[in-house]
Parts: sequence; structure tokens; C-alpha cells
Amino acid sequence: MKGFVFDLDGVLADTAKYHYIAWKRLADEIGIQIDEAFNEQLKGISRQESLERILEYGNKAAFFSKQETAAMAEKKNQQYVELLDELSPEDALPGVREFLASAQQYNIPCTVASASKSAPFILDKLGIREYFAGIVDPADLTKGKPDPEIFIKAAQLMKLKPNEAIGFEDAQAGIDGIKGCGMYAIGLGTSEQLIGADRVIRDLSEVTVEELICL
Ligand code: BG6
Ligand code: MG
Repeated sequence: MKGFVFDLDGVLADTAKYHYIAWKRLADEIGIQIDEAFNEQLKGISRQESLERILEYGNKAAFFSKQETAAMAEKKNQQYVELLDELSPEDALPGVREFLASAQQYNIPCTVASASKSAPFILDKLGIREYFAGIVDPADLTKGKPDPEIFIKAAQLMKLKPNEAIGFEDAQAGIDGIKGCGMYAIGLGTSEQLIGADRVIRDLSEVTVEELICL
């Protein structure tokens, strides 16, 4: 293996919880009850599509115009970005900094494949942006996860074929995207939540660069 591709929210940064808090606040305001089990299917999904899923779940999709849903998505993002204000290098998930520093020492490139438009901002806040050879811009994508496009682009940023890289994901949509282009998938979470992952770990402190490049 010659490169690593990382999802951001829930893999590098402890920010998946903030997405959930902000969506829950918005859903409450419009009278839709969401819980953590429902939230699993929002992970890895774009802002607009997440909102569509929430409205469909609450049977309210027909009640709002395009303009209204755009304003709702914007409101959720404002709340989310406010929550990010407190973010500091301590919010990098366990093992992240050590793993990235080790990859740098081994000269193994790392890229970010996240649906989030806030990815560069978050990487700066965590103080880990310098470790990445590239960040896929979600604005360049024609399809979001579970389509493999974002992972293919992430591999291209490292001039690698997808099967020469390892992808890390905490969302089922992400695992499906990684496997959809023949990349090796490491899931962060539980094997019940992450079907089809080649390996499941709790966090990056459980793996070393040394062992993974031998795969
Ligand atoms: C993904 C998150 O990383 O980014 C999703 O898992 C989120 O929950 C998506 O909706 C888009 O993020 P943002 O910050 O652009 O709204
Ligand atoms: Mg994620």
C-alpha cells in the first residue's frame, strides 16, 4: 500500500457529534424527531441530501420550497460552524496525530476525502493540515458518497490507483464508496455498523503505518 485516504468527520476529528447536534436542533424546530440511530444514515452524506432525508423521514418534504430548504441548510451550517469555534488540537481523535506523523516519516502520502465544505477550516483548527498532500474539493464531485468518485479523486491526488491505497471511514456510505473502487477499507466503529469493511477498528491508535503498508 502506497497511500492513505481519510474521511474527516468521525475519523480525524470528533466533529460528527456537532453535525448531529445542529441537525437535531433544526429538526426539532420543524417538528421532526431524529435520534442517533437515524443519524447513522446522515454520516458521510452532503448537507443538502441530509436535509432531504430528514424532511422525508418526517413526511414534510412537500411542505417546503427550494428556497426554504436552502435557508434551512444554511441555518444548520451556521449552528454547526458556531459549535466548531471551540475546536482545538485536542479534538483530533485518538492516534490521529501520531499516525499522520508516522506516515510522513515513511514518506507515505495522505489525502482527505470528506463531503464537508468545512474540511480545510477544521484541519487548520486541529493543526494537522500540513500532513496532507491534498484535500478533495466536494464542489468538484458529480456524485457524493456512496459513489466511489471522491475516493478515486483522492487516490489521483497521490498519483495512485485506488487499489494501492487504504481508505478510513466511519460511515456506511463511505465504506461502500471505498469498496466501490477496489480500495482497502478500514472502518472506524463497529462491524455491525460498517458492513463490508476489510477491517474495523475503534480509532487510529489501533493501527500502525508500518503494518498497513505491508498489506
Ligand atoms: C460529512 C459529514 O463529512 O460532511 C456529514 O459526515 C455532513 O454529516 C457532510 O453533512 C457535509 O458537511 P458540511 O460541513 O459541508 O455541511
Ligand atoms: Mg465521517
